[in-house]
Amino acid sequence: MILLNLLPVSLFAQAGLGPWVPDVSETSFTVNWETPDSQLVRVEVVKDGAADTLNFYQTRYGRSLVGTSHSVKVTGLEAGTRYAYRVCGIKVLDESQPYQLVYEKEEKKGEWHGIVTLDSKAPVCRFSMVNDIHGDKELFAELFKGISPQDMDFMLMNGDMVSYMTSIDVVKDCIISPVETLLHDVPMLYARGNHEGRGQDFWRFEEVSPSRDGKAWYAFRQGPVAFIVIDCGEDKPDGHPAYCGNAHFDQYRAEEAEWLRSVTKEKWFRTAPYKVCVSHIPMSLEEDSWYTQKQLHETMLPILNKAGVDLMLSAHFHRHVFVPEGKCGNSFPIIVNDCDERLDFVCDGRKAKLEIYDRDGNAVHEYEF
Ligand SMILES: [Fe+2]
Repeated sequence: MILLNLLPVSLFAQAGLGPWVPDVSETSFTVNWETPDSQLVRVEVVKDGAADTLNFYQTRYGRSLVGTSHSVKVTGLEAGTRYAYRVCGIKVLDESQPYQLVYEKEEKKGEWHGIVTLDSKAPVCRFSMVNDIHGDKELFAELFKGISPQDMDFMLMNGDMVSYMTSIDVVKDCIISPVETLLHDVPMLYARGNHEGRGQDFWRFEEVSPSRDGKAWYAFRQGPVAFIVIDCGEDKPDGHPAYCGNAHFDQYRAEEAEWLRSVTKEKWFRTAPYKVCVSHIPMSLEEDSWYTQKQLHETMLPILNKAGVDLMLSAHFHRHVFVPEGKCGNSFPIIVNDCDERLDFVCDGRKAKLEIYDRDGNAVHEYEF
């Protein structure tokens, strides 16, 4: 206690989480972070080589939102360009009187970090994927030991990164803090698993990974690769006693299948040289497959086959599985990544190379498709 009292005030001010970048496109990126006290915040952005500093704010109805959980969208950017950014905040002392707001005088400024926007013209697409970490922070940190931001365009979380969404603070700590340093400079993209829907704070998942258009399924392109990211929902039937009547995933996935049918017809998707579908639950079929896996196989797999998808990256089984093309009606290979391995993907538009590493850094599987 005595030691804590001797620490300078600025150290306390820096306590919090992040920043991390849960969304990126060719023209924007989003910066999320947490502060220990309520703050009025902004993000400073400088384009590589430029002199001007741009400012971005978290606003609603035209005015700033204050609080401890921050999300600022940086817009109007150029593709494939590096931008330096830093988060800044002023502590809010009293907001109870509308015209007598009391803020701390001095603004605190974070460290500078850097993000490169996506670029469909980039010659190569590279990312690293992990899944089914289930809150094991030590494992998560080990899987990215020795990896630097320059090694990937983004980090991909393929679901079940925590077991339960009971406390959003615990969830953020489990997902962000093990790789926090890396996530300052690498966007974190997320495919939800079945466990991200479990627990009373499930609806606050947006604070970890804000959804595009209010939906957790999305599509994007980086370099030669078009990506479809599926939100698979729960793994058992909606009427299962475990959900106590709160599950309506059949309807959700039916809507998602409609979107899938539509997005795969769009020109940007059709013309991409390589197409990857990310789905936490694989769309393969075995004799003992559970309800949702069977449903995805029946309803979404045919759409993906027709759309010319080249590869599916999945999770959920907690073991490594390779499902070759044609094994169960799939016209592309499916890789199910183990729960304690990191999958590195690189694609030049003709071939995708996958290298999979265990927690000790040993290469354990290699594929080329
Ligand atoms: Fe799962």
